[in-house]
Amino acid sequence: MERRTILVTRRLPGVPWDDLAKRFRAGDPPPAGTMPREEFLARVRGASGILCTLADRVDAELMEAAGPSLVVVSNFAVGVNNVDVAGATRRGIRVCNTPDVLTDATSDLGFALLLSAARKVSDADRFVRAGSWTGWDPWGFLGVPVAGKTLGIVGMGKIGAGVARRSRGFSMKILYHSRRRISPSEEAGLAASYRDLDALLAESDFVVLCVPLTPETRGLISTERLGRMKRTAVLVNIARGEVVDEEAVATALAEGRLFGAGLDVYEKEPRVHPKLLSAPSAVLLPHLGSATGETREAMGRRATENLLAALDGREPPSPVN
Ligand code: NAP
Ligand code: GLV
Repeated sequence: MERRTILVTRRLPGVPWDDLAKRFRAGDPPPAGTMPREEFLARVRGASGILCTLADRVDAELMEAAGPSLVVVSNFAVGVNNVDVAGATRRGIRVCNTPDVLTDATSDLGFALLLSAARKVSDADRFVRAGSWTGWDPWGFLGVPVAGKTLGIVGMGKIGAGVARRSRGFSMKILYHSRRRISPSEEAGLAASYRDLDALLAESDFVVLCVPLTPETRGLISTERLGRMKRTAVLVNIARGEVVDEEAVATALAEGRLFGAGLDVYEKEPRVHPKLLSAPSAVLLPHLGSATGETREAMGRRATENLLAALDGREPPSPVN
């Protein structure tokens, strides 16, 4: 029987490309960086399975280019906003992702951003490296306290709950907003109280965004919503860049209407809004949520299991559709 064709779009931790290449027709080894769109479109022809990253757009054009052989799109990420899931479903294509294995790493990073923005860690680090430090200063780099303050989590899913659990060590009051309330026992377990979004923004000292990017969440944090937040508040985005109006955040920081921002994700990655680049109170990371060696290996294993299961006609461990 002729071996089926797969396409792995990038060299990835935990993805045993050599083994896959023995079992399937896999073409040339995947590139070290994101596969250029033209190459992706050309190499996907006749593929039964795609293992791709969040930087690869799997849209109608791509699925059309693959042709009717395509059975599965296995995304090396939990977020699947890069995949046209509805279009895949209409074509009978399984879409899979990598939830759970990255929850702790991403929740840790959310908390790291919260603490860094609250205590001006990045700005102070730059100050020391620049040789500007002349001695202990009772007025220098005054932050906002974290312990005992109110944390608002937008999107109380796996990562949102992970951030909530971490905040317990800081005796924070936890508010959350999702489309649906979690169960009373989950609320009690996390000591979290539900609020509508505007109330959460008004009451919180720290707002952490943990929602997927969907048509509903695109632009969720607008100028108007930022205006509801306290001037002393910190906004943390570990979701997707497009959930936030970056220009509005940069302006709020510049005008002192927001104390700080901790951003891991951006509207047009890898471009970062120039006003954010020049905002000392913004802590900017290059989309590192899941970036620990163990986590990335686990993501690769999960993405591979998803790919193989769907190709074998078995139920994948992490199906999206
Ligand atoms: P999850 O368990 O599915 O949680 C998502 C939560 O968002 C759910 O509680 C969902 O609850 C809520 N939600 C969905 N639409 C909403 C809306 N319109 N308004 C308010 N809440 C809404 O997913 P997860 O594993 O926690 O991951 C969440 C997202 O984090 C991913 O989709 C991804 O984009 C992002 N992420 C980023 C990184 C990074 O590197 N920075 C790493 C991993 C994940 P309801 O359905 O009840 O609303
Ligand atoms: C990372 O951003 C992910 O969605 O896994």
